[in-house]
Amino acid sequence: MSLTGKIAVVTGGSRGIGRAICQRLAALGATVIVNYVSNPAAADETVKSIKDNGGSADSSRFNVAVAAEIEEAFKKILADHGRVDILVNNAGITRDGLLMKMKEEQWDEVLDTNLKGAFLCTKAVTRAMMKQRSGRIINITSVIGYAGNAGQANYAAAKAGMVGFTKSVAKELASRGVTANSVAPGYIVTDMTKDLSSEITETIKSEIPMGVLGEADDVAQAVAFLASDGARYVTGQCIHVNGGMLME
Ligand SMILES: NC(=O)c1ccc[n+]([C@@H]2O[C@H](COP(=O)([O-])OP(=O)(O)OC[C@H]3O[C@@H](n4cnc5c(N)ncnc54)[C@H](OP(=O)(O)O)[C@@H]3O)[C@@H](O)[C@H]2O)c1
Repeated sequence: MSLTGKIAVVTGGSRGIGRAICQRLAALGATVIVNYVSNPAAADETVKSIKDNGGSADSSRFNVAVAAEIEEAFKKILADHGRVDILVNNAGITRDGLLMKMKEEQWDEVLDTNLKGAFLCTKAVTRAMMKQRSGRIINITSVIGYAGNAGQANYAAAKAGMVGFTKSVAKELASRGVTANSVAPGYIVTDMTKDLSSEITETIKSEIPMGVLGEADDVAQAVAFLASDGARYVTGQCIHVNGGMLME
């Protein structure tokens, strides 16, 4: 697998799964734009780790929930690099709460970041990818988007929405050589899951046939495949990376 010469944008690339995706795509030769919103130090660390290993990367701050920031950022990325070959819509948040107590803001914040963010970033690269007659859009959804979860109605709705979004984008752009796929992680060790109690973690593990939580790079490996030439005939699909927790 080689991604030499490719330009990749990874939203939420500063930490966790996004960082692993940035590192893996860069290790395969892509120039990676590491997006973040609030944590420049983490983004710098990701960029540095890539450069230290001989790769090429830069950071870009924009909030995926804010159309004007995305427009400006992608204008600059396209001006600087001339193209975007790979877009990974990875930025995501949780604002958990039981439905009866869930505030409208909790719903809106999660839907705006996790789902609208993917729409806005995909829209921002569509014209360029259609003109290039090539491109890879990879959306990071979740096992929760398939299985649901008490206390995560907002998150599950956003992640399930991403799956339908991915299929529609795949159908719209297939004839232009652009593919759109998703990757659905199960439980992966990152900042997002680090505060789970040991009791909850043990319960989750008991539901995973492989018996362990996943690593961020397990997800990055699936993304790298979808970004590669080997996946040229794969579109509208979802790869589940969950240790067997959910079998589709
Ligand atoms: N961890 C899991 O078990 C798991 C399972 C299934 C799916 N996922 C999905 O995988 C993705 C990554 O999760 P993670 O566990 O790596 O999360 P994480 O460690 O909490 O990192 C989240 C990343 O998203 C960025 N981000 C958050 N809001 C943003 C916004 N409005 N605009 C731009 N960037 C934003 C953060 O940037 P800053 O550093 O600037 O804050 C950070 O880089 C998410 O979509 C998540 O839903 C995770």
